[in-house]
Amino acid sequence: MFIELIHWISDKLLDNPHMFNSVRYLLAGKQMGMKKFVASNLNKYNCGIIADFCCGTGDFAISSPFNSRYYGWDLNSDFIKYAEKKYHQDKNKKFLKGNVLNSETIYRKKFDAVLLISAMHHLSDKELSVLLPKIKKISKKILIIADIIPDPPHFLQKFFVKIDRGRYIRPKAEKLRILRNYFKIVSSELIPTKSAIQFGIVCEVTSVKKS
Ligand SMILES: C[S@@+](CC[C@H](N)C(=O)[O-])C[C@H]1O[C@@H](n2cnc3c(N)ncnc32)[C@H](O)[C@@H]1O
Repeated sequence: MFIELIHWISDKLLDNPHMFNSVRYLLAGKQMGMKKFVASNLNKYNCGIIADFCCGTGDFAISSPFNSRYYGWDLNSDFIKYAEKKYHQDKNKKFLKGNVLNSETIYRKKFDAVLLISAMHHLSDKELSVLLPKIKKISKKILIIADIIPDPPHFLQKFFVKIDRGRYIRPKAEKLRILRNYFKIVSSELIPTKSAIQFGIVCEVTSVKKS
């Protein structure tokens, strides 16, 4: 009952970009560990054009390498407006409203890397089975995932997992199993934030046979 109430309240509040950012900052801090993880892999693979799927308020745009082109997509138009305003002076960063599951325009371009940060636990297995093959078609090099795990060590972290709005918080092995159907996993690591443990995964786009 209590958890349902929290879900109801967060559904009402967290679609507002300012509330989303404040709550995120309070719970997770600046997420510097995750930002470094993303930035170092984008640099390692020499990524010049990046797609950030489910980009939210554009928090991870900062991880894109200097002079690279960054495209962020999100369903929430207020998040997109917020990100556009924040980065209006940076011509290399574009934010667009779109549903990554069924937009046609998103899939007309090719990218060196696709990011899926804190988004996998919002998508069902069926939705991932639609999305991941599409990502495989448009990413030339890598897919970078960061997603919370259901069994963090600290009781407060466990509580935050319980109240998260995402309905599909999968164990590490389950995330890897799903991704292996489409990609070659080259590295993974646990990245702690204040309120959760994120699992960072780097997948290379190669012709892996679907099991
Ligand atoms: C927890 S937020 C993460 C935002 C951002 N990646 C970050 O880490 O700051 C999840 C985001 O996924 C977006 N989202 C969920 N389903 C989506 C879809 N089908 N297409 C586009 N965006 C989606 C939501 O609007 C929300 O902004």
